Amino acid sequence: MSHLIAPSLLSADFLNLERDIEMLNNSEADWIHLDIMDGVFVPNISFGFPILNRLKEKTSKPLDVHMMIVEPEKFIPEVAAAGAHTMNVHYEACTHLHRVINEIKKHGMKAAVTLNPHTPVILLEDIINDLDMVLLMSVNPGFGGQKFIEHSVEKVRKLKELIINKGSNALIEVDGGVNLETGKRLIDAGADVLVAGNFVFGSDDPIKTIKALKSM
Ligand code: DX5
Ligand code: ZN
Repeated sequence: MSHLIAPSLLSADFLNLERDIEMLNNSEADWIHLDIMDGVFVPNISFGFPILNRLKEKTSKPLDVHMMIVEPEKFIPEVAAAGAHTMNVHYEACTHLHRVINEIKKHGMKAAVTLNPHTPVILLEDIINDLDMVLLMSVNPGFGGQKFIEHSVEKVRKLKELIINKGSNALIEVDGGVNLETGKRLIDAGADVLVAGNFVFGSDDPIKTIKALKSM
């Protein structure tokens, strides 16, 4: 499988959201990444269901929802009803992760677990076979446009090794500070999906930037 690109809407122009969604529709973007923040799990607040619920009317691209909130299990039915393809919950936010993953799947979504930069991949050893994807944070979550944490490349390698050793089908997604340079190294290390916010929306020609990320 060639790698997938998931632009993060967090860096879009919220006064021109429809225009930016149209741009993504006309681009080679594979998924749209949506960052939900609660001001508790992360030190920032983004957007919630009023926006999420309108997106499926405007795009047929799969919606990759990244929940940066405490108790994400409370919102599984709402995220499913918003038409999400994948629901990402943080390892650090779920005491009963196995139960949460099963609930997400029961609601017809792909289940993904997200790891903060300090959380080692080995902690997924006993759940990796239940996961559709692992999302590795390559910045501390909460903001777009941050500097890539170098250690993430090695972490992708370790996760790939775990996935192969366990015979898991989980994809590896990486989020934070992705550009053509970091992106290429992540792909070479085994990443399947790259999230990019600032690098796409901050560029002069986002469609061209997505194409460049896609053809790395
Ligand atoms: C950060 C979010 C990311 C963010 C990435 O907390 O999870 O998805 O939008 O932004 P960039 O690509 O600008 O680092
Ligand atoms: Zn994200």
